[in-house]
Amino acid sequence: MKINGTPYRTIWTAADNEAVEIIDQTRLPHIFSTIRLENMRDAERAIRDMQVRGAPLIGVTGAYGVALSMRHHASNAALNATCDVLLAARPTAVNLRWGIERMRAFLAPITVHERAAAAWQEARCIADEDVEINASIGRHGIALIRELHQKKNSTVNILTHCNAGWLATVDWGTALAPVYAAFDAGIPLHVWVDETRPRNQGANLTAWELGQHGVPHTVITDNTGGHLMQHNMVDMAIVGTDRVTAHGDVCNKIGTYLKALAAYDNGVPFYVAMPTPTIDWTLQDGVKEIPIEERAEEEVTHISGLCNDGQVRTVQLTPAGSRAANYGFDVTPARLVTGLITEHGVVAANAGAIRTLY
Ligand code: MRU
Repeated sequence: MKINGTPYRTIWTAADNEAVEIIDQTRLPHIFSTIRLENMRDAERAIRDMQVRGAPLIGVTGAYGVALSMRHHASNAALNATCDVLLAARPTAVNLRWGIERMRAFLAPITVHERAAAAWQEARCIADEDVEINASIGRHGIALIRELHQKKNSTVNILTHCNAGWLATVDWGTALAPVYAAFDAGIPLHVWVDETRPRNQGANLTAWELGQHGVPHTVITDNTGGHLMQHNMVDMAIVGTDRVTAHGDVCNKIGTYLKALAAYDNGVPFYVAMPTPTIDWTLQDGVKEIPIEERAEEEVTHISGLCNDGQVRTVQLTPAGSRAANYGFDVTPARLVTGLITEHGVVAANAGAIRTLY
């Protein structure tokens, strides 16, 4: 996608082929800057501190982390130690495990001497595949938006939560891929953007990338969606996901479940854009089994923003001494999900339909 007219991906190999570069998402939307990742520790920090975030992108960054590590130490011990460190960086998005385990399985049979070059090539391949997958999600999802437009013959209002746009992937996004495809095809649409406290990925990132592409959008507080749905102001919801069980339970950014409940109560179609690497075949019951990341209290008690003097500052919101709980994700049971938009097509959120993807 483009930033001020220049095409970017969220992660790319440096011109000297010695490192990887990323967009620092902790500084958006007010400051655009890039960071050079030189080694596995840099990649691990970028994932843990959310300089890169979004399930597909952390999977790709994990893969590049393995590749960076292999340039310095390529023994079996180094490979396994690298994978363990990177896997621990963030617990919920299964794509991180997927990307790292794919690298481990790919590299294990390769001689130590050849591993560095092979790892670099494989990480690049995973990144390119992510772009293809998301473009395909866009092609399948556009049909749903077009159908709604044909039915109502006016602007389609789409609600999304968190950031599942191109910044959460290598390019295109998952939930926003159909939005970009529909917008580019001339279908009139408007996006309701949940701000997504505490880290405000909606207000900071989704609003920014939609704005860069010229897509009409409005930021709303996280509690507004239900009201809008009651007043027929939302035609569909599309969200991303960090992990989907074999039965179709969907883990996504905290607050997704409440949006799905409101959508169900108001008959609003609730779609989840899901690249197939996001399926965790090992799990049955998402609510009981998916590990939910708990993050620092400061993300709730404090907030950052642009001050009148042009500086970005962090201020405290809550009284000194009040504790805060910061659960990063929740699980929406499959029964509340209208459909899963995948790179292979749109399917129902149940075990039988998900198996047909393979
Ligand atoms: O904590 P984050 O910012 O990594 O969470 C991101 C989300 O919840 C996304 O909506 C999800 O990863 C889907 S990404 C295409």
